[in-house]
Amino acid sequence: MTFQTVPTYQGVLARYAQYLDIPAHTRPVTLQEGNTPLIPMPGLAAELGGGFELFVKYEGLNPTGSFKDRGMTVAISEAYGRGAKAVICASTGNTAASAAAYASRAGLRAVVIIPQGKVAAGKLAGAVAYGAEVIQIEGSFDDALALVVQISQQQPIALVNSLNPYRLEGQKTAAFEICEALGAAPDWLCLPVGNAGNITSYWMGFRQYHDLYRLGLPRILGVQAAGSAPLVLGRPVEHPETVATAIRIGRPARGEQALEAAEQSGGRILAVSDEEILAMQRRLAAGGVWVEPASAAGLAGLAHELLAGRLSLDELRGRRIVAVCTGHGMKDPDIIAASMPAPLRLEPDVRALEQAILRGR
Ligand code: F0G
Repeated sequence: MTFQTVPTYQGVLARYAQYLDIPAHTRPVTLQEGNTPLIPMPGLAAELGGGFELFVKYEGLNPTGSFKDRGMTVAISEAYGRGAKAVICASTGNTAASAAAYASRAGLRAVVIIPQGKVAAGKLAGAVAYGAEVIQIEGSFDDALALVVQISQQQPIALVNSLNPYRLEGQKTAAFEICEALGAAPDWLCLPVGNAGNITSYWMGFRQYHDLYRLGLPRILGVQAAGSAPLVLGRPVEHPETVATAIRIGRPARGEQALEAAEQSGGRILAVSDEEILAMQRRLAAGGVWVEPASAAGLAGLAHELLAGRLSLDELRGRRIVAVCTGHGMKDPDIIAASMPAPLRLEPDVRALEQAILRGR
């Protein structure tokens, strides 16, 4: 028998170096992020009315459990290469965990600023485990972002929020992967929108590949939570609220670019309720894909538009739709206890167990 070795995948910086606009001083810090699966969801497509192909780009399978790792590898590699000793970010949780992991790996200090309460347990634990200095402020994500922008202008500490252009350079590689997996751009891309770095990056990535390889462009459906929907309302939201704490953001840093991406692509930005988000989280889990609430928002938006008749099954017939699921379900375990039935408790008794099973719970 011959044993074949597979060349090791080296992460998005190595894989897509030729397509990334990054300075020569960049020194790769990688956890082999990216290369995430594009999972067909035929059952869910049928439930939504059928006639189209539906895929989930499962970004929760990145090394720290969210899509942030693609951009973070590039932002940290740039900061490290130029000799930065510390990085800072504001975060609803996922950026914090990702920044912490990559900074630690490079031997840099990571300071992460999180809003009061509402940061999901799996994210905070990650940031702490990777060794970040976590500071919670009595304020919102938007307040935290304003603070870190100021500090990074006054002190030698690199900002790694998605205002940092290298975050977008890394993040856009997800669009490349989708094009490669499908052999073309999808017809629609649905994704959650918070601070709007991700939607901006996808649109950059799809346009770049289209310019090079003529793979077409998707229409983009960007989805906010109804209680945190500044881009839908057309004004900042002072006290954003939503169960999808990842996207509890009232002043998106890249809001203008998000609106442009939606408009230029022939798509739109809409809002869905917390109930719609949680219902879609359950439907995805029923298809074997457990994601955190924010990650279900993109598909909840698709379902919402179909139900409201603003998208028709006729229009979608034969089309390919990709929904980006940004973070793993394990990031936010508490939401399951809060919104789903608790396990049945039994004495360790075989009769009781038998009855429970025969009753179907
Ligand atoms: N989904 C998840 C799971 C997120 O954590 C975020 C953003 C988004 C979607 C929205 O992406 O901001 O690029 O529009 N989380 C940031 C954070 C704000 O701090 O982790 P976006």
